Amino acid sequence: MKVTINQKEFERIIDYNQIKKRIRLIGIQLNVAYEHQHPIFVGVLNGCFMFMADLMKQIHIACEVSFVKLSSYDGSARRDQVTELIGLDVDLEGRDIVIVEDIVDTGNSLKHTLDLVNKQNPASVAVCTLLLKPSAVTHTFDNIAYVGFEIDNAFVVGYGLDYRGLGRTLPDIYKEITS
Ligand code: IMP
Repeated sequence: MKVTINQKEFERIIDYNQIKKRIRLIGIQLNVAYEHQHPIFVGVLNGCFMFMADLMKQIHIACEVSFVKLSSYDGSARRDQVTELIGLDVDLEGRDIVIVEDIVDTGNSLKHTLDLVNKQNPASVAVCTLLLKPSAVTHTFDNIAYVGFEIDNAFVVGYGLDYRGLGRTLPDIYKEITS
């Protein structure tokens, strides 16, 4: 199945049923890993909103939820500079943190979020990302503990991810068709 967004063609690579199944499994892992810990899930907006909503419905342990908002993309072009638009509003000192990302591409945004979180001396920090582009990552991370899907280094939209502001509401995930 194909969609066109702003004159660009995309083809479906992951459907919502697959996403839901994967999220159920990640939820089970998180419930077991954090059973006695009362973690704080920190979602990185905007892209994480669908993943966060579906993931949190699978979390049955005591936990808190917070968000940060960063801007690192200009349409579909990467920018090296990451800007913080909404900061953290909870005290993370001594707490167990799970950062929830839509996608780790270059990893710049994750690096920035980790720096922000680590400044507050949390007890532990793990990363949960729906998508990971292993061949695009430019940093070394040792705490990406939960990954929904590893994908090729192609631009993707849907399930929270946008192309120039559009495509976020698609329930499935699509990748750009390049000729
Ligand atoms: P980074 O390159 O890992 O810093 O990615 C930063 C942010 O850019 C992600 O959290 C996404 O919101 C967005 N992003 C990265 N890759 C894609 C993509 O393929 N499609 C749509 N948004 C993306």
